[in-house]
Amino acid sequence: MSTSTDRAADRGDGLRFPDGFVIGSATASYQIEGAVEADGRGTSIWDTFSHTPGKTLDGDTGDVADDHYHRVEADLDLMQSLNLHAYRFSIAWPRIQPTGRGPANQAGLDFYSRLIDGLIARGITPVATLYHWDLPQALQDEGGWTNRETALAFAEYARIVGQALGDRVAIWTTLNEPWCAAFLGHASGVHAPGLTDPSAALQAAHHLNLAHGLAIEQLRAVVTNDPQFSVTLNLHMLRGSGPTGEEAVRRLDAVGNRVFTGPLLHGAYPADLLRDTASITDWSFVQEGDAEIIHQKIDALGVNYYSTSLVRVWDGRGERQRADGHVAGDASPWPGDDDIEFLPQPGPHTSMGWNIDPSGLEDLLLAVHAEFPGLPLLVTENGAAFEDTVTTGEGGPAVHDADRVDYLRRHLTAVHRAIERGADLRGYFVWSLLDNFEWALGYSKRFGIVRVDYDTLERLPKDSARWYAELAATRAIPAVSPDAEPSLSVGD
Ligand code: FCB
Repeated sequence: MSTSTDRAADRGDGLRFPDGFVIGSATASYQIEGAVEADGRGTSIWDTFSHTPGKTLDGDTGDVADDHYHRVEADLDLMQSLNLHAYRFSIAWPRIQPTGRGPANQAGLDFYSRLIDGLIARGITPVATLYHWDLPQALQDEGGWTNRETALAFAEYARIVGQALGDRVAIWTTLNEPWCAAFLGHASGVHAPGLTDPSAALQAAHHLNLAHGLAIEQLRAVVTNDPQFSVTLNLHMLRGSGPTGEEAVRRLDAVGNRVFTGPLLHGAYPADLLRDTASITDWSFVQEGDAEIIHQKIDALGVNYYSTSLVRVWDGRGERQRADGHVAGDASPWPGDDDIEFLPQPGPHTSMGWNIDPSGLEDLLLAVHAEFPGLPLLVTENGAAFEDTVTTGEGGPAVHDADRVDYLRRHLTAVHRAIERGADLRGYFVWSLLDNFEWALGYSKRFGIVRVDYDTLERLPKDSARWYAELAATRAIPAVSPDAEPSLSVGD
């Protein structure tokens, strides 16, 4: 991104997506809803974790977040004003079953029912995720995802939700980023429930896989409107550096990607993963019959993408580099890979410190398509956090987030290129509709195309929201005016 020539090539202004290509936005329950005590909602592991001193930046919690729970009608109008074709949201399990088991809390179901009706009334397709990390605390008290029973409880939850909403949801996603839930939650401990036990992380990964399979079985049995079924993974886009790069990529791909794609899409855990992690666990938690349950036919795979990783085997000299983009914890989120290093990468970077590399998205989509040729893909998250500033001009307050517009423009160009090169891409969801609670980093990172003032909770569409609205209206990548060129350069 250093010369004006490759800048132009990277930005496919005017490029049009195929008819039917879905332009949407994504959010997640705990990150936006607030209202943690409303209408019988139970406690989730993120309530517990965020209220534990030292776990989130500045002690931020999702207690209020964007107060979306109480502002849902206005947020629906906002989505409509942005011409969104689809909205990807998640359902908070503790609103539906406050303790993770037993009868449904009708008020919780009613909230999502109203949300879905509001979407449909505005011509917006509902895309629902069952699990975006807010496990009922009562289940955690019995071991959470390290306990097989949690997968069985998840199946019951899926059935309840499917019975109530399964006449209107167009796409069901069982899990969002089970890698983060398993490995950031149980190995590095920077996410709830905050454990640092690599064998527990692998066990959690298996039970999440099992939960996916069981939930699809239940949903299939009760839905009435012929929806699509999917799962969303944060596949790590790994690039090797030097002579040991290939080996490092293989190992991280095993414990970062194939631990999910193996059982979910090929029907088995990869042999090299079992071998690499043999000193950590014997995998005896995998029971006979699990492989068949997990290996469900799905209609689409959701891919979340933000940046790339550059990796090699550490030569033991100097300090081992750990620039994997995740918040650093007391332990590594990569079981068995303590001799691998993640090298810092050239900029520009977002305010998460993530390198901006749209070609990583193109390469990833093409690689996934090559491995699973018949499987339609959705980019279920892509976006960027930047230090936004509010300016006040003649037209009132505004956020001129040229760097975010540029990020989206270049990544959508990469998506378009992947489609032209044969990837079966069906849609793109920007992360995120609203600024929100960014997990361990609290409210310090703003990913929204709409700004949220955390004092007044007012919403203010940023320039990126206007740009995105035009994209959604035309399905073509909008040009930007020359005075809105991005400010970032290679050194940033
Ligand atoms: C993904 C999460 C999402 C958000 C973005 C920035 O890992 O799915 O909730 O935090 O990262």
